[in-house]
Amino acid sequence: MAKLRLGVMISGSGTNLQALIDACKSADYPAEICVVISNRPKAKGLKRAQDAGIEAVALDHKEYADRASFEDAIHECLKEHRVQLVCLAGFMRILNPEFVNRWKDRMINIHPSLLPSYKGLHTHARAIEDGVRFGGCTIHYVRPEMDNGPIIMQTAIPIAADETEESLAAKTLAYEHQMYPAAVRMIAEGKARVSGNRVVFKDVELGNYGLISPIVS
Ligand code: GRF
Repeated sequence: MAKLRLGVMISGSGTNLQALIDACKSADYPAEICVVISNRPKAKGLKRAQDAGIEAVALDHKEYADRASFEDAIHECLKEHRVQLVCLAGFMRILNPEFVNRWKDRMINIHPSLLPSYKGLHTHARAIEDGVRFGGCTIHYVRPEMDNGPIIMQTAIPIAADETEESLAAKTLAYEHQMYPAAVRMIAEGKARVSGNRVVFKDVELGNYGLISPIVS
């Protein structure tokens, strides 16, 4: 079967991109990365793409008159590479509703919190400050409102007594790297699809156990 054609959009280090690159190396993985786009020309993720022999494109938002023309350039690049699913992986620019709607149900994002809690930035520091028992990470379809949209996959991560923003970020990233390739696989295999405001699953084990913190003895 033909592989699902991915376009990955980044702004920085690209460790989630790397997880996708590594997954795509398996012959039986049902997706392939056709282009990586960064709005920051110096993003480390562009080098990761080049090293893997993937087309790496820098589209510097500062070189465009406005957001709409920047997004038109992204759109053209994605179309040129016949991208079927856009994966935002640490892409740090707000996207206009027009762009988001052009890719409706064909664009997903990863966010380092248990959405709908802690949208936006500094999610780990805010969660620790609030004393919530769980942080986490979420992969969701993108809708015009930031960090909003049908949820595909989440991990709940207990917050330790001595948790720091750095330690929680490191733990969370390790789960992100497991989730992103798994979520893309589900979509590519037709096992997860949008229905209204939710994602519905087919032939997927959803689990029925909980995480509890503090541990109850
Ligand atoms: C991750 O924490 C992701 O959840 C957020 O941006 C970060 C990207 O990290 N959207 P990386 O560039 O993939 O290392």
